[in-house]
Amino acid sequence: MNKILVTGATGHLGGAVIETLLTKISSSQISIITRNEEKRLEFQSKGFNAFLGNYDNVAALEKAMAGVDTVLLISSGDQGNRMQEHRNVIDTAKKAGVKHIAYTSRCLNNRNTLTNKLMVEHFETEDYILSGGLKYTFFRNILYMDAIPQFIGGIAALEKGIFLPAGNGNVSFALRSEMGEAMAKVLLNNECENKIYNFTGDKSYSFYDIATALKELSGKEVKYTNVETSEFKEMMKQRNLPEPVIQKIVDFITDIKHNQEADIYNDLENQLGRKPTGLKDGLKVVFGL
Ligand SMILES: NC(=O)c1ccc[n+]([C@@H]2O[C@H](COP(=O)([O-])OP(=O)(O)OC[C@H]3O[C@@H](n4cnc5c(N)ncnc54)[C@H](OP(=O)(O)O)[C@@H]3O)[C@@H](O)[C@H]2O)c1
Repeated sequence: MNKILVTGATGHLGGAVIETLLTKISSSQISIITRNEEKRLEFQSKGFNAFLGNYDNVAALEKAMAGVDTVLLISSGDQGNRMQEHRNVIDTAKKAGVKHIAYTSRCLNNRNTLTNKLMVEHFETEDYILSGGLKYTFFRNILYMDAIPQFIGGIAALEKGIFLPAGNGNVSFALRSEMGEAMAKVLLNNECENKIYNFTGDKSYSFYDIATALKELSGKEVKYTNVETSEFKEMMKQRNLPEPVIQKIVDFITDIKHNQEADIYNDLENQLGRKPTGLKDGLKVVFGL
């Protein structure tokens, strides 16, 4: 790799990618794009080629891709316009003569049976890249272990318990930082042409397991209650969450219940050269316990 553009470099996942890239290449070989001028200046002061712009600003994307041979597209968090944003990055890469595009997709069991339609966009982005003819790498990342607090109501779950309609569904959670590290290792080792990596933990865990791990870590009586979806929706309504938000959460959790995120692969372990962090150690980090 001579020169790489990392989108989302100011975020958590992109930050972990950059940290590992810098162990082998210099900041002058890395371009970044951010919507925030302060962050741009910060990166620039460290020797990166830093550009101001977003996934909708094709002119800025063109500038950021000049002389770049690999683009790492970190999926947009925008849930309205995401596909168009991704198409903008992919189309611009082709136009700018980029040779290879890497994309952060999701590791899900079956795209055809997903309840959460937002997840389908990851596969549609993969399809779009494939149809464009650029060399590709798909990093199919599992649900971040770091996202567990958001699902269970944060640290308050230690006192209140966990109430979710997730049944006994399992997730092969992995730490976001370890997936970022592994992505960078793949890119640095040039093991990336037309390959798919499924980054997951080496075990999968239910919310019963999460409650048990939190109980062991905190010494508190943490219990997981597998509530009915209707009851869960009512609980969300009482917290004044808007209906579309509630439905989005329910769709997410329904896929977990159906084990869409339960598959286990050894790609993460192979790239890290060690076992990925397990649930108990990961929760310790995530909750600061
Ligand atoms: N696997 C999972 O469990 C999981 C969970 C949540 C999200 N995700 C996906 O993974 C992505 C990265 O996660 P993360 O934790 O690193 O997110 P994060 O910390 O929120 O960082 C998001 C990054 O994306 C950039 N970005 C967002 N929208 C953009 C736009 N329209 N144009 C240009 N840059 C944009 C931000 O840049 P600036 O703010 O500097 O412009 C920031 O660098 C998320 O965006 C989401 O698609 C995956």
